[in-house]
Amino acid sequence: MGITSTPLDRPMVDTLTPVSTLSRQSRHHRGLARFDLAGRTAIVTGGAVGLGRIGAQVLAEAGADVAIVSRNFAKAEATADHIAATYARRTLPLQADITDEAQVGRMVEQAVDTFGRLDILINGAAAPRKIASVQEHTLDDLRQAIETNLIGAYLASRAAGASMIEQRWGRIINIGSVFSFLGVPDRIAYVISKGGLPQLTRGLAAEWADYGVNVNMIAPGAFDTPVNEPIKQNERALARLLARVPLNRFGRPEEIAGPILLLASEASSFITGAMLTVDGGWTAAGWETSHHDE
Ligand SMILES: NC(=O)c1ccc[n+]([C@@H]2O[C@H](COP(=O)([O-])OP(=O)(O)OC[C@H]3O[C@@H](n4cnc5c(N)ncnc54)[C@H](OP(=O)(O)O)[C@@H]3O)[C@@H](O)[C@H]2O)c1
Repeated sequence: MGITSTPLDRPMVDTLTPVSTLSRQSRHHRGLARFDLAGRTAIVTGGAVGLGRIGAQVLAEAGADVAIVSRNFAKAEATADHIAATYARRTLPLQADITDEAQVGRMVEQAVDTFGRLDILINGAAAPRKIASVQEHTLDDLRQAIETNLIGAYLASRAAGASMIEQRWGRIINIGSVFSFLGVPDRIAYVISKGGLPQLTRGLAAEWADYGVNVNMIAPGAFDTPVNEPIKQNERALARLLARVPLNRFGRPEEIAGPILLLASEASSFITGAMLTVDGGWTAAGWETSHHDE
């Protein structure tokens, strides 16, 4: 566990704020204080890299202690240590394969044992995207995508949700995609698996609303992360993609931070079962956009 020295302006929380105090405080909070995550704790799957890592960072910056999950312990540890050192929060690197029910159970247990409670889950892990025709996809490609992107998010939500239900407060954020809504060629496994996440989100939101557990989905468009490097290198593919994005560019990874903080905090107390597109207008446009400077 990465624990670092505390900066003078932010005392380290040694004993976590009790649940009763947190919910009392949040009722009285207005404005910016509703984004404060001091005393909260989180698990971020896929948290070692990319958008998941940005999510873990913003939670820590807002005051939460964060467990970083990867199948590779060294990767989780490197990110956890970096976040602990940067934001002076407690962090916990965890090795888990989210397609394995027993490992997911242990992942949640370890976070609760270490932090004393669990308030926030970000389901950020995703299987590698296969780009190929339907005929070139194998059944195993489809199974891997569904097992990771959909069933993995379900397993993690179910395990984390038990703890959140008990304490009557929780936030679950599923990281879907614009491909949760759009049919696109040559990505059938990804499209099918991400297409299930809105319904996972709505089903859990409806079932857990009584317990103060809000479940929402963020649908990122194309972000400037390593997975999009091949598109950036291919002039034609890049032009075709950007023609569909009114803001005419990739999202910068840090542009996912605000939406995550909103949905992880008390600021989203009246938002559940929602899909928040963070896509530069891609899903709004529905037609190629004529960028005005062209
Ligand atoms: N980047 C984009 O433009 C974009 C656009 C739309 C949606 N998204 C979504 O945003 C999320 C993050 O995407 P990203 O591109 O930043 O990162 P990414 O490269 O897709 O990384 C996701 C991480 O998930 C982990 N993972 C995969 N299978 C796992 C398993 N069975 N158990 C545990 N962890 C597993 C992998 O980490 P380990 O190998 O370390 O386990 C992987 O590094 C994904 O859900 C993605 O679908 C991204």
